[in-house]
Amino acid sequence: MSTVKFLTQNFGAYDVNSIGSYMKIGGFNALRKAVNMEPSAISDLIAAVKVKGRGGAEYDMGRKLSQARAVVGENKIVICNADEGETTTFKDRELIKNDPFNLIEALIIVGYAVGATDGYIYMRSEYACYRPVILNAIRQAKSYGFLGENILGKGFDFNIHLYSGAGAYVCGEGTALIRSIEGKAGRPRMKPPFIKQSGAFARPTCLCNVESLSLVPHLLMDDQEFYARLGSGDSIGSKLISVAGNVNRPGVFEIAFGTTVREIIYDLAGGVQKNRAIRLIQFGGASGKVADASVLDTPYTYEGLRGAGVMVGSGGMLIIDERTSVLDFLLMNQEFFSEESCGQCTPCREGNLHIKIILDKLAEGKATDEDIRQMKKIAQVMSVSSLCGLGETAQNSLLSAMKVFPSVFQPGGKNK
Ligand SMILES: Cc1cc2nc3c(=O)[nH]c(=O)nc-3n(C[C@H](O)[C@H](O)[C@H](O)COP(=O)(O)O)c2cc1C
Ligand code: SF4
Repeated sequence: MSTVKFLTQNFGAYDVNSIGSYMKIGGFNALRKAVNMEPSAISDLIAAVKVKGRGGAEYDMGRKLSQARAVVGENKIVICNADEGETTTFKDRELIKNDPFNLIEALIIVGYAVGATDGYIYMRSEYACYRPVILNAIRQAKSYGFLGENILGKGFDFNIHLYSGAGAYVCGEGTALIRSIEGKAGRPRMKPPFIKQSGAFARPTCLCNVESLSLVPHLLMDDQEFYARLGSGDSIGSKLISVAGNVNRPGVFEIAFGTTVREIIYDLAGGVQKNRAIRLIQFGGASGKVADASVLDTPYTYEGLRGAGVMVGSGGMLIIDERTSVLDFLLMNQEFFSEESCGQCTPCREGNLHIKIILDKLAEGKATDEDIRQMKKIAQVMSVSSLCGLGETAQNSLLSAMKVFPSVFQPGGKNK
């Protein structure tokens, strides 16, 4: 089993500090093509290959762009979400550092497609080391006339601004991210208004993940329809995934949709360390669901993973071997959410703490039937009544583990 090279085709092919080097491999040809197309043709092209947002929510990207274009309003904004806060998810970083000019080009094209005047890149604080490469790409793109006023003589004005976060997971959520860009505390707000109508600085805003954006120039230049021939059904093309945990070769891989979970773990990631048995696999970061080894022959597709009770989400995969118990894993996950909850709404603030207390009791063999019932109830209430996606999804791992490993959730049950 091998990886594919579509999204990653530019990796290593040019000097990431030089626009000239990027242009020698065809850089900015996609933008030249885009500005001669109807904006709607760009979103149609993305819709045709059924691209779902790669940031975690799996929203149809073609539809998002046409909705953003349809919003009436001045000075629209496109934001590139480079917060990459999900645990075990480190694939956007590869696109930022190995192909920064493609990301800049993508943001300009999407700006043109939705009728925006400004692009913002919101980058997590931990990626400060990539600021120079992005700032240099912005500066060079501007000096070549790909940014600024009247781009390519088409009367299209667009600028890009780079913002760094301050290290909060919740700032990957759209409304919190926008507040952070505005210089406010990065806390989510109620919707509506939806950010597509009133986002950053109350301007219509279209928020896209790094990987979702990075696909766009390649799709525009894919005259041979290579991408459309990969995958099938609702999962066309390729996906950048990051594999972490107890495997021999953790890393980032571009796979064709349809590659099985077994091929990912055993061929690409080199198998489980010392051939230990798999305890569980978490898909899509800390907010993702878990499965046991019965998922190994499942194709990595949106439909395949959903059928197996998990999700693609952010594209992270965490492999935990038999040395770690299900409860120890859940406690670690729970610690993360108790820390990262912004504390603004009761279900998430209190729920995360109470679940942690009950998980601790369970791990010590002291939980009662009533405790376990309560824990499940709290998790379910959180998922339907929290103010933002953090509280809504924090208990995905617990609720899925309760289904997959029922014997763990018994009074006095074994901590394994
Ligand atoms: C708590 C929380 C954290 C998130 N973190 C990220 C993130 O780091 N990167 C990202 O692209 N999307 C993140 N998202 C999803 C975004 O809210 C949004 O759906 C996404 O950026 C939209 O882009 P896409 O449609 O291209 O995926 C997060 C959502 C929540 C609720
Ligand atoms: S769900 Fe959690 S993170 Fe989201 S607003 Fe409520 S307390 Fe904050």
